[in-house]
Amino acid sequence: MKVYIETYGCQMNQYDSSVISFLVKEKGWELVEEWSEAEAILVNTCSVRAHAEHRVLSRLGVWGKYKREKNPSLLLGVMGCMAQKEGKALLERFAFLDLVVGTHRLWDLPALLERAKKERILATESTYQNFPLPKIAAGGVSAFISIMRGCNNFCSYCIVPYVRGRERSRPPEDILEEVKGLVKRGVKEITLLGQNVNSYRGVSLKNSITYDLPDLLKELNEVEGLYRIKFATSHPKDLSAKLIRAVKDCQKVCEYLHVPVQSGSNRILALMNRGYTREDYLNLAKNIRREIPEASITTDIIVGFPTEKEEDFLLTKELMEEIRFDTAYIFKYSPRPHTAAAKLPDDVPREEKEKRLGELLALQKRISQEKGEKLLGKELEVLIERKERDKWLGKTRTHRTVLVESKEKKPGGKDIAGKNLRK
Ligand code: 5AD
Ligand code: SF4
Repeated sequence: MKVYIETYGCQMNQYDSSVISFLVKEKGWELVEEWSEAEAILVNTCSVRAHAEHRVLSRLGVWGKYKREKNPSLLLGVMGCMAQKEGKALLERFAFLDLVVGTHRLWDLPALLERAKKERILATESTYQNFPLPKIAAGGVSAFISIMRGCNNFCSYCIVPYVRGRERSRPPEDILEEVKGLVKRGVKEITLLGQNVNSYRGVSLKNSITYDLPDLLKELNEVEGLYRIKFATSHPKDLSAKLIRAVKDCQKVCEYLHVPVQSGSNRILALMNRGYTREDYLNLAKNIRREIPEASITTDIIVGFPTEKEEDFLLTKELMEEIRFDTAYIFKYSPRPHTAAAKLPDDVPREEKEKRLGELLALQKRISQEKGEKLLGKELEVLIERKERDKWLGKTRTHRTVLVESKEKKPGGKDIAGKNLRK
């Protein structure tokens, strides 16, 4: 069978799609790059904002029409967060859909796809106690690896705890084995993923000792042939002094922390149920920079949360000026079903949300530019990922994207091997 997979949303979804791709290939099926060549189309979906869902719905419209008019035997499947959230309603709404596979059943995909040839499939109930992840390995020089899934935080705007369930951490030995497998295939950099990665608590299969993220980082730091370790996303309230110290002390762990602040107003932070104040966050950023002066700190921000006034917005702007993030991902608030914030009035008009978004984007652009200019003339370690037109594209340890001019035909290998460029 020829299978096409399209992915929306976060890095976790990209990772999940890479696992599914692996399973598809293991089954002896072929992955294709063009959906028009496929016998099965699978779309891995995101529910975090309404916009992400609309994009998928319009894709489904295109594929549904194609199936009806040109290719009636085409199998069409929705998987991931939207599948988990909507479940049966998706099958009822779209007669052309063959399978709906939620976040808890992704690893059953090849078998479910096989069954979908005969009957329509709805798979959203979890049948697993723990992590059934196959020991897979993506290719490339940089790979994601999921170390925990789910979230217990229930930030009032966020649908993740409802579509991905409660936190489950993988045992450290499992992660170590997967990382070693990746390194054998040439991976130089891994990014440990979790919705709330710094509340990782993995129980050892050997001695039942619980490892936190700093413990895990120390273990992974010893893996031979691995050059860089990154992790995301960190929650400010769980970013301990022990973790900052581990980032500082472990040579392979990069000086890069993605720590969403969401808002600079204490009133809004409380309504968001974030569990920290503006002052806590400023203090945290100060501690990070004191211990690791070269660290880059990146963030997520939501504008137009219910009841957000101009004065709340200005506090966010001031906080951005004060911290000077390396990058900020800025979103307009989008009410999500099930969440606590959905019960509040979505009372910031769309134009106002757009205005605030535009202002913060412009501010961040200026800061990022100024930070970039400070690097002019400096020598930095860049891990090359791929060719981008006539240049090589890579990332610094601080996660800055860099384009490099080089006549080299192949990236990786001897240029970075064996050198400790951090010092
Ligand atoms: N509306 C807008 N942005 C949201 N995010 C999460 N839920 C929502 C929502 N309902 C943003 C947060 C989070 C990022 C992944 O998406 O900033 O950190
Ligand atoms: Fe959502 Fe908050 Fe959990 Fe992040 S920490 S996934 S924003 S509930």
